[in-house]
Amino acid sequence: MQTSPIYTISEAAPHPLAVYIHWPFCKAKCPYCDFNSHVREQVDQQHWRNALLAEMDYMAGLQGDGFMVESIFFGGGTPSLMPPETVAALIKAVRGRWPVSERVEITLEANPTSSEAEKFSAFRAAGVNRLSLGVQALRPEALAFLGREHHVGEALAALEMTAEIFPRYSFDLIYARPGQTPEQWREELSEALQLAGSHLSLYQLTIEPQTPFERFHRAGDFTLPEEDDAAAMYRLSEELCAQQGLRAYEISNYAAPGEASRHNLAYWRGIPYLGIGPGAHGRLRTDSGWQATSTIKSPERWLAQVQREGHGLETSTVLTPQERAEELILSGLRLGEGIACESFTAATGLMLQDCISPTAAAHLSELGLLAQTPAHLCVSPQGRLLLDSILCYLLSFHPSRIARK
Ligand SMILES: C[S@@+](CC[C@H](N)C(=O)[O-])C[C@H]1O[C@@H](n2cnc3c(N)ncnc32)[C@H](O)[C@@H]1O
Ligand code: SF4
Repeated sequence: MQTSPIYTISEAAPHPLAVYIHWPFCKAKCPYCDFNSHVREQVDQQHWRNALLAEMDYMAGLQGDGFMVESIFFGGGTPSLMPPETVAALIKAVRGRWPVSERVEITLEANPTSSEAEKFSAFRAAGVNRLSLGVQALRPEALAFLGREHHVGEALAALEMTAEIFPRYSFDLIYARPGQTPEQWREELSEALQLAGSHLSLYQLTIEPQTPFERFHRAGDFTLPEEDDAAAMYRLSEELCAQQGLRAYEISNYAAPGEASRHNLAYWRGIPYLGIGPGAHGRLRTDSGWQATSTIKSPERWLAQVQREGHGLETSTVLTPQERAEELILSGLRLGEGIACESFTAATGLMLQDCISPTAAAHLSELGLLAQTPAHLCVSPQGRLLLDSILCYLLSFHPSRIARK
């Protein structure tokens, strides 16, 4: 069980900060996806660049100084559809606003179609130093089922190019697809591991509400693998990745030592981050406390509001220490390293043991699903598949929750 941190971010000022920038457009909408992504014939690139820069400026004003940027993440949607000049301008704006760590991680999510792969060198020149490629599957019938725009050959070519151009890269695969057996997943993942760098994201197919897949699934057009098979595929993922030195540092993320995504870690460890672009969420650390921000999801309404008011904010709320504590527990226990009690107290002013049900914690520890020391709390590898139930149990019936209701 992991108890030592994977990547240490200094507690001393300047404090670490992460920046998330959302690009909401895709070439086509995948039938399983419920991300804030939209298909549009035309995108006025000049307007979008100006708006993202304006909102960055506005959010920077809310966050203030005293920070050092550790990570910038271009997520989507499909940020590889962005003009590289826009990516460069946004990175430049971050650098102009705060000091940036020497080892800053600048990630861009990319789809592996050949037209996008042609732009990879330009993204690298713009300052991107980590690419996250949406491969999704290495089987043609699976890519067709998932409604992807690329084929296997394109994904392999894009991966080869990525490995040549970027110092760090990762790719995503979706498993536990209809009809997939653990044996088939073993073969596909073994092939994928031959192509992997120091990081992989492996997601179990989830049927999200209000997606075409939800309708097809409800209509009986396909069925998902049985729970036991899905669990077997999860354990296989852990086993095969571990054989290649990629440790499950989070439920769906695997990395070599020191190679975890710093941006993911920033979220899960509770480091402040700016959320820029339509539907982006932020957690700012301001004089009034932790401020949760969210922006308008609709690209057109977001753009119009930024043009009028300089920001696309829909909500901006100061969280109570208990609300922040609950978020940190929900996110921190996703990590193999768990939660460091000292950082938790520094972020919330509360003691970790006061924020969870002592009965649940004792019971889960007895069952070997939770590991507690005076300095740390983490879910054991056996507990990982039951994470949602464990979190519910730990946070239920607790006086701080009842007091807020
Ligand atoms: C924002 S998307 C990635 C960006 C990029 N547009 C792409 O599709 O390659 C992040 C990742 O979430 C995963 N994902 C999205 N919806 C999912 C679902 N319903 N079940 C499992 N994984 C999903 C996919 O692996 C995807 O690459
Ligand atoms: S999975 Fe990626 S490409 Fe497909 S709709 Fe979602 S964000 Fe767009």
